[in-house]
Amino acid sequence: MKHFISIHDITHEEFNQLLSLAAKLKREQKSGVTHHILKGKTLAMIFTKSSTRTRVSFETGIYQLGGQALFLSANDIQLGRGETIYDTAKVMSRFVDGIMIRTFAHQDVLDLAEYGSIPIINGLTDLLHPCQALADLMTVKEHKGRLRGLKLAYIGDGNNVAHSLLYACAKAGMDISVASPKGYECDSEIVKNAKEDAKELGSKIIMTNDPVEAITDADVVYTDTWASMGQESEKEERVKAFRGYQIDMELFGKSKPDSIFMHCLPAYRGFEMTAEVIDGEHSVVFDEAENRLHAQKAVMAMLMVGDSKNG
Ligand code: CP
Ligand code: NVA
Repeated sequence: MKHFISIHDITHEEFNQLLSLAAKLKREQKSGVTHHILKGKTLAMIFTKSSTRTRVSFETGIYQLGGQALFLSANDIQLGRGETIYDTAKVMSRFVDGIMIRTFAHQDVLDLAEYGSIPIINGLTDLLHPCQALADLMTVKEHKGRLRGLKLAYIGDGNNVAHSLLYACAKAGMDISVASPKGYECDSEIVKNAKEDAKELGSKIIMTNDPVEAITDADVVYTDTWASMGQESEKEERVKAFRGYQIDMELFGKSKPDSIFMHCLPAYRGFEMTAEVIDGEHSVVFDEAENRLHAQKAVMAMLMVGDSKNG
């Protein structure tokens, strides 16, 4: 594993290793054991979109591992004034030991990886959000004791979070049903790749426009905002298009009696789910948010330990 850009690119063994390492790091952190395995290492964090969880969890995570982070907003670096990804990748590779990037175009992340010589971590693009899906399945495993054979229902926009959940469930041997309104379905190439990946452990992927079909008998119920970063101007039309896709107590009641509710956050109560659902007893959203820290520490440990910087 050289980069963490898409869960599709890693094997199911690597995915499991990340989950185990994340769980170990979490246990150790809770019992006061520290590992300064990234002592002297620097992670550059490039953000061209807002963030609470990703920024704070990466920054805290590398600090806990003995390294340091540089927060670089697009306004502060020359990338925001038109310097190329090519030059940015070459220059950063001379200074730092890894780059975490959150941006719009997925291709920019692929280009950073191609032109740079250090590990690249995808902190969210318009296409994928792999760190989120890793933390999500870590959370499912904590609550359910296993992943294989469980059913996750994603109700809502066929966006970056849905795409990474498709890949993660396929690698973990979990069934996934995605219900989105017409015109807001997942990218067909991603669905095709995930179906191919799912053959290895034999899990099922169902894509539908019917939220009831998707949620019935689900062990995990998941949703995300109807308007992602960059889609703010479409909010009104999206609210209309997603009518019927809100997870309220009635819809949630069709999942298994012991199902858990998940959301990557930030959440908008009264839109993609009611307050009763996200603030109710089945919700694990804050465990899920916490696990971003542990999951990403595992990613950094896997990618950045050793002589990762070679100019
Ligand atoms: N879930 C998530 O990535 O949150 P932030 O946008 O706050 O980083
Ligand atoms: N789909 C959302 C996720 C935010 C963490 C977005 O891209 O804005």
